[in-house]
Amino acid sequence: MSKVKESVFVCSNCGNEYSKWMGQCLACKEWNSLKEVKGLSIKSGKIKRTENEVKKIKNDHSDICFLSNIPEFDRVLGKGLVQGQVILFAGEPGIGKSTLLTQIMGINTGLYVAGEESAEQIGLRVKRLKLNAESYDILETNSIEEIEAKVSRTNNLYKIVVVDSIQMMVTDEKSNGVGAWTAGSPGQIRESTFKLVELAKKEKVVVIIVGHVTKEGEIAGPKLLEHMVDTVLYFEGDKNSDLRILRCVKNRFGPTDEVGIFKMEENGLRGIGTDEINLVNGNEEKIGSAITILIEGTRPMMVEIQALVTESYSQMPKRIFSGIDFNRGQLLVAVMQKVLGIPMYQNDVFVMVTGGLKIDDTGVDLAVIAAMYSSYKNKSLGNKVWVGEVSLLGEVRKVKQFEKRIKEVKALGRELTEVRNIREIK
Ligand code: TYD
Ligand code: MG
Repeated sequence: MSKVKESVFVCSNCGNEYSKWMGQCLACKEWNSLKEVKGLSIKSGKIKRTENEVKKIKNDHSDICFLSNIPEFDRVLGKGLVQGQVILFAGEPGIGKSTLLTQIMGINTGLYVAGEESAEQIGLRVKRLKLNAESYDILETNSIEEIEAKVSRTNNLYKIVVVDSIQMMVTDEKSNGVGAWTAGSPGQIRESTFKLVELAKKEKVVVIIVGHVTKEGEIAGPKLLEHMVDTVLYFEGDKNSDLRILRCVKNRFGPTDEVGIFKMEENGLRGIGTDEINLVNGNEEKIGSAITILIEGTRPMMVEIQALVTESYSQMPKRIFSGIDFNRGQLLVAVMQKVLGIPMYQNDVFVMVTGGLKIDDTGVDLAVIAAMYSSYKNKSLGNKVWVGEVSLLGEVRKVKQFEKRIKEVKALGRELTEVRNIREIK
């Protein structure tokens, strides 16, 4: 294996690599996002030149797939886990990554590599989760080499290895002659991940790598690793709410369109079924509220949009959107002003989505406008459901999976509001 000592420039937004610095990433067009990473270029240094045997492909893979037996987790992965699979499990600190993985390890034979917490701290969590402490193998280490040694010595005992977290791991600097790095640096994160990928493939063990994401998606975060692993999962939610969504953004072994839904409770994360995903309480008619229906993966979710539109005392009225994209929110405010003739420039606007959900679906546009309108007019618009994308001219357009949404709205005993232009809102 030839090793080239060099540095590369990596885009902190999309992870693309370049041999020289540039002001803008050619791939994602982000400005000033390239950061220098000293050390090996993975593309140049790791090409195997030994002669490998040509392999025949089998038709049946059921022997290498297995379920974690946490249904919401398996559902997101499609057919469950595949031997040798490397999963990046990313999310903001405190969202519940360690909790979910502790639960998975409670019912699977695995090794929990604790880089952040002590075995005692994990023991307390295991107790809180009411799981059997005896079934845990915990390795307190920050060293990739120690993990390699432990896994290869145990001879296929472990089906899953959890590494919590990649930001705490270091590989032996002498082994690649590049000089010391500190844990969490882009070089260490890449090199450590590369070694874990090799380990997974060699020992046919599933490796789940925990990665913290910062709100800015910093370079030392999971973005850098997405192209190195087989599967990328994001665990999302709002820390002030108990709802958590597990999303798959990349999967070499299955689909990426399914989500897992959990609630964070006193004794850990509980997967919740379809019938419970109704984030709308009661049936009363409220001012400043509009109900909408989303399809997350294959599952419908009823959510409430709340808005507060109040007279502003500032030259620059406030615009606060939580759970929907800021620019989309601004656009809807502008459409409302133009099409409905409401002086939004004199009003502060606050919009939020119940349950702390982040919505990336233009089907919610109509509900956002309805909620703002209701607040502005200080009257309730009833308790019907609002679904539709709003154009710049105020027309309401059908969105994807519209028929399915109508069906679900009916099943939940509600009705859809039929408007073709936001002028018809009353
Ligand atoms: P944790 O899994 O440590 O987050 P991460 O590994 O993503 O940083 O979860 C931390 C939060 O979860 C903490 O605020 C406490 C809460 N929690 C519960 O509500 N119930 C539980 O059973 C556990 C173990 C944690
Ligand atoms: Mg943790």
